[in-house]
Amino acid sequence: MEIKYNSAYPSIDDLKKQARRKIPRFAFEYLDGGCNEDVNLYKNTAELRQVELKPYYLDNYSAPDMRTALFGHVYDAPFGVAPVGLQGLIWPGAPEILARAAFDHNIPFILSTVSTSSIETIGEITEGRAWFQLYHPAEPEIRDSVIKRAAAANYPVLVLLCDVPAFGFRPRDIRNGLAMPPRMTAKNIWQIMGRPEWALRTLFHGQPEFATMKPYMPKGLNMKRLGLFMNKTFSGRLNAERIKPIRDMWKGKIVLKGVASEEDTEMALSLGLDGIIVSNHGGRQLDAGQSTIKTLPPIVEKYKGKLTIMMDSGVRSGPDVARVLASGADFAFMGRSFMYGVAALGKDGGNHTISILKAQLKQVMEQVCCAKVSDLPKHII
Ligand code: GLV
Repeated sequence: MEIKYNSAYPSIDDLKKQARRKIPRFAFEYLDGGCNEDVNLYKNTAELRQVELKPYYLDNYSAPDMRTALFGHVYDAPFGVAPVGLQGLIWPGAPEILARAAFDHNIPFILSTVSTSSIETIGEITEGRAWFQLYHPAEPEIRDSVIKRAAAANYPVLVLLCDVPAFGFRPRDIRNGLAMPPRMTAKNIWQIMGRPEWALRTLFHGQPEFATMKPYMPKGLNMKRLGLFMNKTFSGRLNAERIKPIRDMWKGKIVLKGVASEEDTEMALSLGLDGIIVSNHGGRQLDAGQSTIKTLPPIVEKYKGKLTIMMDSGVRSGPDVARVLASGADFAFMGRSFMYGVAALGKDGGNHTISILKAQLKQVMEQVCCAKVSDLPKHII
């Protein structure tokens, strides 16, 4: 797909500013915020940006090729769309918009269990190319049913989330009454009235719902009971005993997401998993944790080549993607960056954001004289 973008928004920061203007405050703060004092949220990007690259201007030049092979598929760029919960609350139809754009650009889209589109809808849009991220359900019947649906819709990769053993402590969401799902307080309604396009589109599109989880929910739950249902359903911690039956059941690839230690990487490897995403959930879970760019290098040193190593959290530009790959990861993911794009530009937001990231990464590769993404580590200082 050709690189084409709106020149009014050439950076993720431009999209973020516009997103803030377009959507109600509670929705923007849910997307934008970290947890507690936002220390890890800021460290993720700030420390990633300390990674420096060396250019070789007089080397023989060949045009950069961003294609990257991953789990038996060749993607057009070394980055993908990370799973994000409640996407349809941020912009109506957001998961469908991003899944379609990711498919058109031939990059992976990961659907979250707690997004607002179903396994089946996203499977159809992406012709069986999307990945599915499982929030581990406490009940084995729900777990098995969700996994069977993902297999039936031909998802090639199952992503197991391990970094939400407790819900993150997020002051803005608490103040905004934004539990899962949101409560319609007078304050929230007031904020919605200040964003008429969002309000009208949401009205037209219908209230966002947990589309994948809907079949397991008792009918006619009010908002409060729905919140209790979701808390109870996802209360289990992931551990080796819970991963083993999933490994036995799932014929495709399995990726452990939320890895923040060598110990958990070792466990993933010993359980026969195919990859990890080094992630701290975008700084939304453990404010006292480490930035992912600090967690990554010792894992790369010990495990590169033994399993696929990917990274997310804090990545907001093409140069950031280059920094992640130069640091030894095989692939990068972004969540907020794409969601700012859709909140800012609606149905054009997916193509736009993927296009600017591709254009920026291509420029970095041309600038440093790097022909293929796997050579980026040669440029790290
Ligand atoms: C969902 O995964 C969230 O971080 O809100």
